[in-house]
Amino acid sequence: MTTSSNITADIEREVMLDLVRVTETAALRAGRFMGRGDKEAADQAAVDGMRGMLDLVDIRGTVVIGEGEKDQAPMLYIGEKVGNWAYDGPEMDIAVDPVEGTRLVAYGLPNAVSVIVAAKKGSLAPITAWYMNKIAVGPEAAGQIDINAPVRENLRVVAATLRKKVRDLTVVILDRPRHARLIQEVRDCGARIKLISDGDVSGGISAALPDTGVDMLMGIGGAPEGVLTAAAFKCLGGEIQAKLWFPDEESKEKAVQQGFDPEKVYYTENLASGDQIIFAATGITDGELLQGVRYQGDRAITHSVVMRAKTRTVRFIQAYHDLRYKTVRSKQRSRELTV
Ligand code: FBP
Repeated sequence: MTTSSNITADIEREVMLDLVRVTETAALRAGRFMGRGDKEAADQAAVDGMRGMLDLVDIRGTVVIGEGEKDQAPMLYIGEKVGNWAYDGPEMDIAVDPVEGTRLVAYGLPNAVSVIVAAKKGSLAPITAWYMNKIAVGPEAAGQIDINAPVRENLRVVAATLRKKVRDLTVVILDRPRHARLIQEVRDCGARIKLISDGDVSGGISAALPDTGVDMLMGIGGAPEGVLTAAAFKCLGGEIQAKLWFPDEESKEKAVQQGFDPEKVYYTENLASGDQIIFAATGITDGELLQGVRYQGDRAITHSVVMRAKTRTVRFIQAYHDLRYKTVRSKQRSRELTV
């Protein structure tokens, strides 16, 4: 007998590959801008590609995490309807980061990816604040961390759980002046640090995957990136805890007026709840998780990952594209775009 839950499962399976097409298209378009010093152009190309492909997906999607207020984006904004909205398609929350690491693309640096998450309606936290303080660990150390505990204590318990010495731990931290104290504390404890210039979604995911050499992510990064990381962790295991962080009193007051509590701890489940969650990403520049786009004449190769929370299967997909047969329809620009 067909039940509503196995209908949803089948739709999720179909949607998975469509989501890979969406991030592949965004990556193929953004990858052209690698090293060209223009992060806006890279982002715009990815946004156009992502949006055009999303129109073809058989869902009734609403963007809950999008390009957002921070980037004043004309497309993929919070509340935008995406998907083909066929009457029987599932209603889904959509979180996107067409280029996670725009500066990485602009300067040809590693680890830029295009990311999308689709989840059952209501499962992704619609956080509009810009920043979050985060701590994230892989499956073995899940349940051991406490964002309110001192750095030293978190390092101690994670090391003990992983049966390592603190000096053997590697912590990923975004290289920002705001982290001077955190970096000093981690150094004082003797742990190793991997400073990254951008891209804390990839940084967080590397803590959840085996054999990356990364044990933890700590520090303040984008709030939308926190939700994307939580969605990935629902598929990979591991734990993220986060608290909103405000660069100044004005933005803090604004968030409080909107009903946000700066002291609230967001656990993985608060950021991405339930198990109807799909995460897909395609590499734009080379990285530890995914290779970047390779172009040769009319052809290109992409590397993507797609995973879902229900089964926790993680699939890596290498795709060979013949660009002569690939365009994407842009409703907004009323024309076919090249990929
Ligand atoms: P963009 O792709 O939007 O440029 O974000 C890159 C990023 O490094 C994120 O990975 C990170 O969460 C955020 O920026 C940190 O923000 P900021 O650069 O303002 O410190």
